[in-house]
Order: sequence, then structure tokens, then C-alpha cells
Amino acid sequence: MIIVVFGPPGVGKGTQSAKLSAHLGIPAFSTGDMFRAAMVEDSPLGQKIRSFMDAGDLVPDEVVNELVASRMVQPDCADGLILDGYPRTVAQVKVLEGWLAGRKMKLDYVIELVVDREELVKRLAGRLYAPTSKKTYHEKYAPPRVPGKCNITGEDLIHRDDDKPEVVRHRFDVYTKNTQPVLDYFAADGRLSRIDGMKNIDEVYADILKVVEK
Ligand code: AP5
Ligand code: MG
Repeated sequence: MIIVVFGPPGVGKGTQSAKLSAHLGIPAFSTGDMFRAAMVEDSPLGQKIRSFMDAGDLVPDEVVNELVASRMVQPDCADGLILDGYPRTVAQVKVLEGWLAGRKMKLDYVIELVVDREELVKRLAGRLYAPTSKKTYHEKYAPPRVPGKCNITGEDLIHRDDDKPEVVRHRFDVYTKNTQPVLDYFAADGRLSRIDGMKNIDEVYADILKVVEK
């Protein structure tokens, strides 16, 4: 089963993808997390990516497509996967669909999470991130057991560089500009499910399960 989790910055894509991954036993991968890992290596590719991510701009399609394709051929993706934050442009949709069709696979569900902009700002302002485990917390909505420490690795939690208010504003604008054609594409053949992301984490998750287990 191949599932795309789609939505604006801070809507809960990573939070819900991790829960779904544990439940369905298929990997979830976030293009944002992949890029953050590449930046840590400080390779030429990492430096190139940093210039886009720090500004809140999209990484060029060809870079994203290549990284995703290299991840999707890994053996743990044989039974399916959850794509968090990919595709996010029509060009990425077309490459993904072509790639899957060439392997007699298809994209089964596109889950769009929908949240008010004000709520997104609150979620990103309080988000805490564990760079190694990639787990996401929230100071109020999803606090770690020990303040400031990851439940899994015990590492220090940080605020992401692109969660600075001015970068967040730009990320929203970039999302808004690219969203509609992608959603129109998936809505046209009935694969798109809109989920109310304003509910709490467990309620949103229950609504997602109703879609993928129907
Ligand atoms: P990426 O890392 O994917 O960032 P994003 O899309 O902006 O989304 P976020 O990770 O910020 O939010 P999320 O939806 O995962 O929310 P989360 O679960 O953390 O991408 C970063 C950058 O990489 C992009 O700007 C771009 O440069 C580049 N990039 C990535 N993919 C690309 C692509 N395909 N093409 C080109 N460039 C690409 O939740 C947020 C907070 O809210 C957390 O604190 C969480 O605990 C809390 N929370 C979650 N759900 C709830 C709830 N229901 N109630 C209350 N709190 C909640
Ligand atoms: Mg995320």
C-alpha cells in the first residue's frame, strides 16, 4: 500500500505518518527529514539543499525525485510505504506516478490534513525535534516524558531552523502556491481524502485509519 500524507507546514504529517507506519508495518519517510540528514553530512548536495531549506523554498524537483527514488528501491519498501511531504508539485506527481507505473505499482491513498493557519503557527512555535530519532514533540500538545529530551534516544530536543517565524510565513506561501494543482490532480480520480486536522492527535489518527482500512 502506498499512501501520501499531504498538507501545510505543521499540520501533523510527520506525527501521523509515524503512527501509521507503526500500525501498518511499512516505512514512512519524510523528504524534509531526508534533507535534514543530508545537511548534517555537509556534502556538496547538503550545502545545496541548505540554501533552499533555510529560506523555506522548495528543493528543486530533480533533487527531490532522485532522493525519493533511491529510497523507494530499498528492500523495506517492498510491501509499501508512507510518503510524508512528497510529492508537493505537479512535476513531482508526474515523476512519481511514472516511476510506480513502471513497476506495476500505484499510489493508493492521498490523505490531505486540513488545519487553520492560526493553529499551524501555534503548532510550529511549540514544536520540538529530535535530530537523530527524527521524532517530533510539542511543548504542550505532545510533550516528551523528560522535558527537553527525546523519549527514544534521550538526545536534546531542538527547534528546527526553518521554524523561525519569518521562514514559517514563507513556507506557508510556498505551500499555498503549489498546492491546488496537486490536489486537483488527485481529486480528479477519487484518491484524495480530506481529514480535519484540528482534532487532537489520536482523533485525527482514527479518522485516517477509517480511510486506509475501509
Ligand atoms: P518538511 O520537513 O516536510 O516540512 P513541512 O512540510 O513544512 O512540514 P513540517 O515537518 O513542518 O510539519 P508536519 O506536517 O510534519 O507537522 P508535525 O507532525 O511535525 O520540509 C521542510 C523543507 O524541506 C521544505 O520547506 C522544503 O525546503 C524541503 N522539502 C521537503 N519536501 C520537499 C518536496 N517534496 N519538494 C521540495 N522541497 C521539499 O507537527 C507539527 C507540530 O504540531 C508538532 O509539534 C506536533 O507535536 C504537533 N501536532 C501534530 N498534530 C497535532 C494535533 N492534531 N494537535 C495538536 N498538535 C499537533
Ligand atoms: Mg514533518
